[in-house]
Amino acid sequence: MTHYQNPLDVTDLSSWKALGDHRLAMQNFSMRDAFATDPKRFESMSVSACGLFLDYSKNLVTPETLSLLFNLAREAGVEQATRAMMTGEPVNASEQRPALHTALRRPMGESVMVNGQNIMRDVHTALAQMTDIVSRIHNNLWRGFSDKTITDVVNIGIGGSFLGPQLVSEALLPFTQHGVRTHYLANIDGSEFREVTAKLNVETTLFIISSKTFGTLETLKNAQAARTWYLGKGGTEEKLYRHFIAVTSNKQAAIDFGIREKNIFPMWDWVGGRYSLWSAIGLPIALAIGMSNFKDLLSGAYSMDCHFQNEPFERNMPVLLAMLGVWYHNFWGAQSYAFLPYDHYLRNFVKHLQQMDMESNGKSVRQDGTPVSCNTGPVIWGGVGANGQHAYHQLLHQGTPLIPADFIVPVVSHNPVADHHEWLYANCLSQSQALMLGKSRTEAEAELRAKGLDEAEVQRLAPHKVIPGNRPSNTVVMETISPGRLGALIALYEHKVFVQGVIWGINSFDQWGVELGKELGKAVYNRLTGYDSPPAEDASTQGLVDYFRGRHRG
Ligand code: F6P
Repeated sequence: MTHYQNPLDVTDLSSWKALGDHRLAMQNFSMRDAFATDPKRFESMSVSACGLFLDYSKNLVTPETLSLLFNLAREAGVEQATRAMMTGEPVNASEQRPALHTALRRPMGESVMVNGQNIMRDVHTALAQMTDIVSRIHNNLWRGFSDKTITDVVNIGIGGSFLGPQLVSEALLPFTQHGVRTHYLANIDGSEFREVTAKLNVETTLFIISSKTFGTLETLKNAQAARTWYLGKGGTEEKLYRHFIAVTSNKQAAIDFGIREKNIFPMWDWVGGRYSLWSAIGLPIALAIGMSNFKDLLSGAYSMDCHFQNEPFERNMPVLLAMLGVWYHNFWGAQSYAFLPYDHYLRNFVKHLQQMDMESNGKSVRQDGTPVSCNTGPVIWGGVGANGQHAYHQLLHQGTPLIPADFIVPVVSHNPVADHHEWLYANCLSQSQALMLGKSRTEAEAELRAKGLDEAEVQRLAPHKVIPGNRPSNTVVMETISPGRLGALIALYEHKVFVQGVIWGINSFDQWGVELGKELGKAVYNRLTGYDSPPAEDASTQGLVDYFRGRHRG
């Protein structure tokens, strides 16, 4: 029986119990001391792969810790689970579907069977369809209703139909070609609609309606508003097809909207929304950076897939990040995880990671429906450095919770300005160093005395200047951000999330938890807009409905 049919209770495993015992033994572990006693710690706790360099030496681990964590990964069946995912087994048990986002970046020639069909043919047919439209738009062969070329592309989509494409097109801005500008319209808030369309010329704008289901409220409302805007600005019904295309698995709904069949790009049930940027959902990316760069993105992710499948755990980046996360989450009580990219172009990376991690592992029943026996998915947060140092790093350094952090930084900037990048890089390293070293009471007092403060002042201020230190972080370094390295980086975190889901016995590929809010939203909408609706189930909701309708405005 495999992990998705009969998930283990991970807390029953001997390797889990061994880690619990080891945690007690690690109570007084000091990273400072570990570096002092082992001059090879950095070399032995770092790994290179797929254009990325991972330094995981600033962690609360010894070689024994790592060995015990790898034992847990083995005993929990990570290797078997990985093979099951990669070969198209229904690892998404509740929906009885495979999770084959890795097939989207596999080269031609490999075959992956789903329901008796080799899906690789479909994958490469879709890539060819993408190549055709990107080429026609980039070569000015695609014209709008007034025969002008396309200058702006608006992706109408939300969640996985937006966050991945937005992250990548922003991160690869230096690779844009042909001047096609990409915009993202996701929220149902009319202010976003106004802000986006205010910049647009209806004659030169192409809307991509990206929705796996073609049933998401926000997306459909925005698509309808976009059509109204297009017609209101002089667009014609007759040539609407030149300004609206779709990416969806619900072809009929797209046709009903008015999309020409040949302008509908496929999505498949065996790709989850938050894992779909590698499919035609990535069309805004390809229109921004060109198909050649898009294929480099795919091959970078493919290289990480191969690394993940073939490398022993000891040298396996996704497994290392996953098991370190389990170590802090399940044995050190960490409840959240910080992502701190020190690069302007990666400033929205954490938003994509939030959906990827929290929508995948924010679960409390295992694959077989039984309750989990340990904490599962952490809160994912973070933001761009160095800005965070002037916002929330105080808590990371002197707050009460333990919050592990991943720093991500390129060695070379796309935009050198004086010595700015040296300072940015220095700040990234010094933040992880400060988290690890901290500042002892003795050091704080000495520092204050050296400033000439009298002893009373020294004793008064010293406690406030002590920094606990011994706080773990990883640092991922790359030469410079490129399509290939970005593809590898995103795939790295996809596989980290997958491994953690296997350890916790949960399904990382469904998202039943989002359905209730959608259902209740329709009832609240009816109460806001209708006058014969029954009162809300609770006084709070009804009171807020009444407030909206002006009954209780102050
Ligand atoms: O409601 C959550 C969700 O289903 C995400 O998983 C998905 O990425 C997003 O909504 C958009 O879904 P669709 O692509 O079907 O519009």
